[in-house]
Amino acid sequence: MSTEQPNKDFKRYLVTAALPYANGPVHIGHLAGCYIPADIYVRYLRAQKRDVKFIGGSDEHGVPITIRAMKEGVTPQQVVDKYHAQIKSSFEQVGISFDIYSRTSNKTHHETAAAFFKKLYDDGLFEEKETEQYYDEKANTFLADRYIIGTCPVCGNPNAYGDQCEKCGSTLSPEQLINPRSALSDAPLVKKKTKHWYFPLQNYEPWLKEWLIEGHKEWKNNVYGQCKSWLDNGLQSRAMTRDSNWGIKVPLPDAEGKVLYVWFDAPIGYISATKELTENWADYWCKDDTKLVHFIGKDNIVFHCIIFPSMLKAHGNFVLPENVPANEFLNIEGDKVSTSRNWAVWVDEYVKDFPGCEDVLRYVLCANAPETKDNDFTWKDFQDRSKGELTDKFGNLVNRTMVLMHKLCGGKVPPFHNELIEDVDKELIEDIGATKVKVENLIEDFKFRDALFEIIMLSDRGNKYMQKKEPWIVAKQLAENPDAQRNIDNTLHLCLQLTANLAILINPFLPTTAKKMLHMMKVVDKMLDWENAGSVKLLSVGYTLRAPELLFRKIEDAEIAAQIEKLKNGLVKPAASEPQEAPAQQQPASTTDQQPGTGNLKPVIVYDDFAKIDLRVGKITAAEKVEKADKLLKLTIDLGFETRTIVSGIALHFKPEDIVGKQVTVVANLAPRKMRGIESNGMILMAEDASGKLHFINPEDAVDAGAEVS
Ligand code: 2FM
Ligand code: ZN
Repeated sequence: MSTEQPNKDFKRYLVTAALPYANGPVHIGHLAGCYIPADIYVRYLRAQKRDVKFIGGSDEHGVPITIRAMKEGVTPQQVVDKYHAQIKSSFEQVGISFDIYSRTSNKTHHETAAAFFKKLYDDGLFEEKETEQYYDEKANTFLADRYIIGTCPVCGNPNAYGDQCEKCGSTLSPEQLINPRSALSDAPLVKKKTKHWYFPLQNYEPWLKEWLIEGHKEWKNNVYGQCKSWLDNGLQSRAMTRDSNWGIKVPLPDAEGKVLYVWFDAPIGYISATKELTENWADYWCKDDTKLVHFIGKDNIVFHCIIFPSMLKAHGNFVLPENVPANEFLNIEGDKVSTSRNWAVWVDEYVKDFPGCEDVLRYVLCANAPETKDNDFTWKDFQDRSKGELTDKFGNLVNRTMVLMHKLCGGKVPPFHNELIEDVDKELIEDIGATKVKVENLIEDFKFRDALFEIIMLSDRGNKYMQKKEPWIVAKQLAENPDAQRNIDNTLHLCLQLTANLAILINPFLPTTAKKMLHMMKVVDKMLDWENAGSVKLLSVGYTLRAPELLFRKIEDAEIAAQIEKLKNGLVKPAASEPQEAPAQQQPASTTDQQPGTGNLKPVIVYDDFAKIDLRVGKITAAEKVEKADKLLKLTIDLGFETRTIVSGIALHFKPEDIVGKQVTVVANLAPRKMRGIESNGMILMAEDASGKLHFINPEDAVDAGAEVS
């Protein structure tokens, strides 16, 4: 039986979505995992006129940021400034409607998190422990297990990680590695003593069992199951501080060079952001009639369901999450998303490649959301759903209704003639009301896929209704059938009222589409209030509507092929020593973070490998844009002994007219490859600086075209 309090008992809602690390752009896995479900939920609550705050922001501390900074040769602040802005803009572009999108490097957050830590310290709730940890003297840093490489004691793989050997699958600890070295600098490691403050999670076990295991049986199975398994295995003290100079300084006198553990400070970021958003922040965080809901991906479950609630409980005065509806992972074309291998669909690229199609992405990511298990995103499925569900069902009903109303009812909402009501009309009216209730219950139960499906199916039943009533056939009987026009009026009246209902129901899911529908119906935003759904009196009789516009454009086969090609061509084979996404850990043993990151150099190659590459100096003699490919330039290159066509992905960086005459270094013996139908014969070398700017690699002085580079 559900133990969740009915929503009406809550006065206000505080909805958070995981703070993404500001060390790279966001991909569609992030959107499907938590941002789209959170946004749907919040938009629905707003349409219900409930008091809701939607909190987001960037997580700007921790190892992933410092590693990225080291790799790019910039400061951590520069890294977070760049990605915070980029991530924020990606979210805006796909309509994630945060009330605030903050960041954890700002002052309010530093003060809030430090004060939180200090209160637990003053209350005597930390254990102070000194342990020995691996230290990289070259990079001047203690290392996370994932950044320690050495020889596997089981199979002899020289590139095993401090937590796992990817060759034989053994789970390892850094101590077991033979000749451990740093993945950052390749330097051998030394052990150093270090003091940290540990939070004794085991002390909260009895309370967690009561609050979570007994009290929240209604949580999603995947979430509840993971929590139960953590508690069944027993909790241990966990270090809440780290040795680093990037992060929130531990607010104690003897803590030079120590910062708060990123997973201690990040969730407090939800509190800091609420403080920035409103003076009444304490109403949201401290009053029992607040419903706090954390939307996250499955890798964040333990932090949001066990560690953060224990911290809140220890601190006192804060509400606890009422629910944590975590999603599983979204794979891409059958393979796990990997940022280091570039196996991902990046949101900023999607919005450039498919302008005006943000709702199509929102639709597909919700319809195929990994709500109960990992799911797969494929471009073919994206195209199929866009056509078969969005366009042919929802879009078709709206378009047909608008077109026929203009054609057969003079562009005005026709009256409904009660005397001619038929069973099918009554069924449709009932269906609209019943669907509203179903959608409402499903959304409140975090079953967004099913809710969306109900809406699409309602639109499809609208199509069937229209098909049954055939107003276009009835229109041919106008001369002989005195009821014909009234019959047409009834059909289109109901289809228009259905369209208005569909706008309300779809609004939390596809807000831009709902807005387009409002525009066509010439009604104000207020119509989208949830309480209006279920009514068939939304559009007034005699009201003139605008001309129909198509809601969704066709996604062409060529666009899908181009995306698949882009994904495959962009795939980067990671260096053997480059840390990959860490597998889900049960109980991380060391004080260092268990987060993925990036490495440095590719593995060593022998001279013969290098000698296979034929590098030549060439000269660009012509350059032009490639049609429908905003990143590609078609270059004509003089190599002295011949002229080549090379297609290069530099169009966003250089204007064709500015680069004609430039000398370039060409990989001259690369196998030909077709790009957008043009055969590319070779590749030009470019250097990318930390800001992402590209530079030609060319000789200092003019050199004859065709000269060898070695
Ligand atoms: O997994 C992540 O991307 C984390 N940065 C999520 C943090 S959520 C919250 F605690 F801030
Ligand atoms: Zn091994």
